[in-house]
Amino acid sequence: MQQPCWSICLLAIFMLGLDSKLVGEAFQPEFAEPLMNITVPIGRDATFRCLVQNLGGYRVGWVKADTKAIQAIHVHVITNNQRVHVSHNGQTVWNLHIRNVQEDDRGQYMCQINTDPMKSQMGYLDVVIPPDFVPEETSGDVMVPEGGTARVSCRARGMPEPRILWRREDGADIVIRDSNGAKTKVAVHEEQVLTLNKISRSDMGAYLCIASNGVPPSVSKRIMIKVHFHPVIQVPNQLVGAPLGTDVTLECYVESSPKSINYWVRDSNEMVISSSKYEVVNTVVSSFESRMALTVRGLTSSDVGGYRCVAKNSLGEVDSVIRLYEIPGPTIKNTSPANKREEYRFSTPIEGPDNQFGSADRSDDEDDFAYISDKPLNAYKSYDNGTRNRTIHYSTTKSLYEQKLSNKVRKIINKFEIGDTNFDANSYKLNSSFVILHIVIFINVLSTILDCT
Ligand SMILES: *[C@@H]1O[C@H](CO)[C@@H](O)[C@H](O)[C@H]1NC(C)=O
Ligand SMILES: *[C@@H]1O[C@H](CO)[C@@H](O)[C@H](O)[C@H]1NC(C)=O
Ligand SMILES: *[C@@H]1O[C@H](CO)[C@@H](O)[C@H](O)[C@H]1NC(C)=O
Ligand SMILES: *[C@@H]1O[C@H](CO)[C@@H](O)[C@H](O)[C@H]1NC(C)=O
Repeated sequence: MQQPCWSICLLAIFMLGLDSKLVGEAFQPEFAEPLMNITVPIGRDATFRCLVQNLGGYRVGWVKADTKAIQAIHVHVITNNQRVHVSHNGQTVWNLHIRNVQEDDRGQYMCQINTDPMKSQMGYLDVVIPPDFVPEETSGDVMVPEGGTARVSCRARGMPEPRILWRREDGADIVIRDSNGAKTKVAVHEEQVLTLNKISRSDMGAYLCIASNGVPPSVSKRIMIKVHFHPVIQVPNQLVGAPLGTDVTLECYVESSPKSINYWVRDSNEMVISSSKYEVVNTVVSSFESRMALTVRGLTSSDVGGYRCVAKNSLGEVDSVIRLYEIPGPTIKNTSPANKREEYRFSTPIEGPDNQFGSADRSDDEDDFAYISDKPLNAYKSYDNGTRNRTIHYSTTKSLYEQKLSNKVRKIINKFEIGDTNFDANSYKLNSSFVILHIVIFINVLSTILDCT
């Protein structure tokens, strides 16, 4: 009869235990605050903190909600993920730590108390990833013929999805042309692909593709867009005159891409290289522009003639001829430094009442020489007084005409035996075309008179 007694005793103990739990219901454990959502960049550490009141004999457990994988119960880690561990501070603060967070770790985490029914709360772990370019889908440098289309693209991975934008490294606007040729200028172009239709040489340069998604660091890639074209030469002055003995500089401006080989050649086809006679200087002006300058020192009559500046690149070759000629003027004598800045006075009997006559008929002389350019008159560009830089640049047909006339001036000067080398450079500069006109009139009048008699 003792068996049932034991059973009753066990049952009683069990019931008592239940009772104590029921009695303790007033002091059930509770969460003191919600579980926080966490956002961490990949590779960093994350900690969920579960705050519990009145835990009593209950236990706190951690479960990853999507996979139902138990991470830990009380002080024991259950998952075999080596990066997970737990800690607690008394009975109140319960932490779940995840080291070196990976993308797999993203998701809802649940902090549970093993009451009946179980109590739980959830927090989300977001794992963000800074942008990184996808090399297979990101362009390298490109070369396009002028007028063609450059298409460059950039793709970046990241979480959240990165934004791609383009800007020019030099800060200039990006010129977007649609198929109709309509232009839009933008400082920033926001698209994965940048398409430059009908590309021009001014579009050439370094472009930056920048990927960002709010997770530092943003990344950028520098892409060179090169525009290729046949070289072009521009010559400010195709006729350059200087008195004997002076230094004179000829210049050509070259636009070329890829970069051209630039050199000077004389009429005789002999190449001009730097020496005591010549100074050859190439100056880079921009990524596709350069200046060629040839200085001829101490002009002599054998230096007079044509000088060709030549630019050659893989797309072709171009040249332009500059004629260097002697203009009347005193040859520079060996002067002491003290009177180096001597002033020359140019006086002629031409000035005077003759000025009253009407305009000269130019056509008589025009047949004598070829037109080179239709550009407006731009003569006497630099006539530096007081230095050995006595150069007059003629750039136009009109000035060509005057150049021809200036020879007449010289002849007349000789005729009138104005051997005096004192002429005022400035007044010559300002008035020479004026003077020349009147010389023509003078000659015409003179010849008319002579013919008549
Ligand atoms: C966590 O995010 C969810 C939505 O994802 C939101 O409903 C909840 O309120 C957030 N929790 C906290 C503590 O902000
Ligand atoms: C050249 O002439 C100008 C104007 O006549 C004068 O201002 C300038 O100082 C002169 N230059 C030299 C180097 O003498
Ligand atoms: C001489 O001419 C060159 C080229 O035009 C110029 O750069 C230079 O300054 C001039 N020299 C003087 C002293 O004016
Ligand atoms: C030409 O020289 C005269 C003096 O000889 C002067 O009065 C005149 O202003 C000059 N012409 C010009 C265009 O400067």
